[in-house]
Amino acid sequence: MQNKKKIIVANWKMNKGYIEGLLLTNSVISSTPSHYDLQIVFCPPFIHLQTMAAMIKDYPLFSLGAQNCHEEKNGAYTGEISAEMLSSVGVQYVIVGHSERRNYCKESDDQLRKKLVQVVENKMIPIFCIGESLEDFQNNNTKLVLERQLEILKTLDIDNENPFFIAYEPVWSIGTGKNANIYEVNHAVQIIEKFIEAQFSHWKVKILYGGSVNEKNANSFFEIERLDGLLVGGASLKSPEFTELLKNVSLK
Ligand code: PGA
Repeated sequence: MQNKKKIIVANWKMNKGYIEGLLLTNSVISSTPSHYDLQIVFCPPFIHLQTMAAMIKDYPLFSLGAQNCHEEKNGAYTGEISAEMLSSVGVQYVIVGHSERRNYCKESDDQLRKKLVQVVENKMIPIFCIGESLEDFQNNNTKLVLERQLEILKTLDIDNENPFFIAYEPVWSIGTGKNANIYEVNHAVQIIEKFIEAQFSHWKVKILYGGSVNEKNANSFFEIERLDGLLVGGASLKSPEFTELLKNVSLK
């Protein structure tokens, strides 16, 4: 099967208070053997980042991501966090364009484009999320939607030497317990791959799937040869489930 390091991104979303988050981190680290051929990215709320950077420092399997950043470099943006600030505490990845932010915070393509620029300029790796709504899925518009969401990459003026992650996360599968099946994921992966080949063959793109991934179904997605990893929400919030997931994908 595959002979590459699988990427597992744990998106905690707005869950886990400070102590609870550190207990979870500690438990996952101590239950995960160092020989696993995985790259695990914790994406906790901002308040945990600095402490978790210190906690994972001696564990090469783990790295740190943020769930968002602001699109401007700095300035009078009360309550916001810049990419530069994230980088300064050891963050290496930033999720950009998650459907919850597209929907609830009405993030526009222009904002997302600027966020991607900030992330890359600060030498971090974007985890750029795309995915169609249930309505678009039912109307067979997946290709149309994904290609439209990928369009903003064309406007980026980035000399990209770092990896760039693209996560396919169909909106209808997020937090619903209804994951996309491997044919649907494979279809999306092919659309993404074709788009990249045509435009960005020099970029080091990694493709992830996210949406109701759990310890039972995680392995099945790696039947797709081109898939590099998974973005895990709910199942990353409990140590036994998450460490079981890590064990299962590392065995394959
Ligand atoms: P879920 O969330 O695993 O809870 O469906 C995934 C995500 O939104 O990244």
